[in-house]
Amino acid sequence: MRILAVSGKGGVGKTMLAALMIRKMVKDGEKNILAIDADPDFNLPGMLGVSVKNTVGDIKEELLTKQSQLPPGYSKDTWLESRVFEIIAETPDFDILVMGRPEGPGCYCSVNNVLRWVIDSMTKSYDHVIIDAEAGLEHISRKTTLGVDDMIIVTDMSQHGFDTAKRINELAGKLGARFKHLYLVANRVNAEHEKAITERVESLGPEFLGMIPYDICIEEYLFAGRSLLDLEECNATKAVEAIMDKLSYYDVPRQPQK
Ligand SMILES: Nc1ncnc2c1ncn2[C@@H]1O[C@H](COP(=O)(O)OP(=O)(O)OP(=O)(O)O)[C@@H](O)[C@H]1O
Ligand SMILES: [Mg+2]
Repeated sequence: MRILAVSGKGGVGKTMLAALMIRKMVKDGEKNILAIDADPDFNLPGMLGVSVKNTVGDIKEELLTKQSQLPPGYSKDTWLESRVFEIIAETPDFDILVMGRPEGPGCYCSVNNVLRWVIDSMTKSYDHVIIDAEAGLEHISRKTTLGVDDMIIVTDMSQHGFDTAKRINELAGKLGARFKHLYLVANRVNAEHEKAITERVESLGPEFLGMIPYDICIEEYLFAGRSLLDLEECNATKAVEAIMDKLSYYDVPRQPQK
């Protein structure tokens, strides 16, 4: 089992990359995949053409009303954990779990606890777990991406994107986030900027996995509300496939099929 997460500044293309990575795995015939959308404003199911009814945030709220009816000795955590299994949406190609929104002002704690538990225990029955992390640095400081093997930081061509990538890298080092690998991907790159981007990423720290060009095929599919899983081969899909090859993602021991 290998857990991969996608992080970076808001709007740089994290969800698009997570979706195209899943597309590549599905295309390669991988079956045992869990996608986790850990962004409170969840878009991954939509980009994958899946409609998800319940989130972990929703079942947290459900717990508030049911708490008093739980049988004696049945803990809140046990109830939550069993409900998490029920809300995982299953498709023929992959499963998906959506963490959802905070349950109250300022407090996202219990959803985070569930996410940590999911990463620690539940993911073991999958070959591949892909987490679309929330934008920014919070997932590092809250340790919600603690058990992740491969952390891919995405940046666009903006200096702000690189600044956030640098901060994620530094904070991960400072807090001992212990990712097995930390990588960088540059997205929405124009051909004339490729050389400058290559120079800029060299000083940053994480291993550079490659660039994804700006590609109208992405915009067209998202405009039409179509699943990125159905994308025909285009420059963006080719770039993501090259990135996946570089990740040597498939050199992992397999779990028995479900
Ligand atoms: N390589 C690309 N070519 C063309 N358009 C792209 C590309 N990558 C992303 N986009 C566009 O940029 C927008 C933002 O991408 P995406 O939603 O994946 O970013 P994000 O980092 O997940 O954002 P958020 O922080 O809000 O979750 C998408 O609507 C998509 O249309
Ligand atoms: Mg996103």
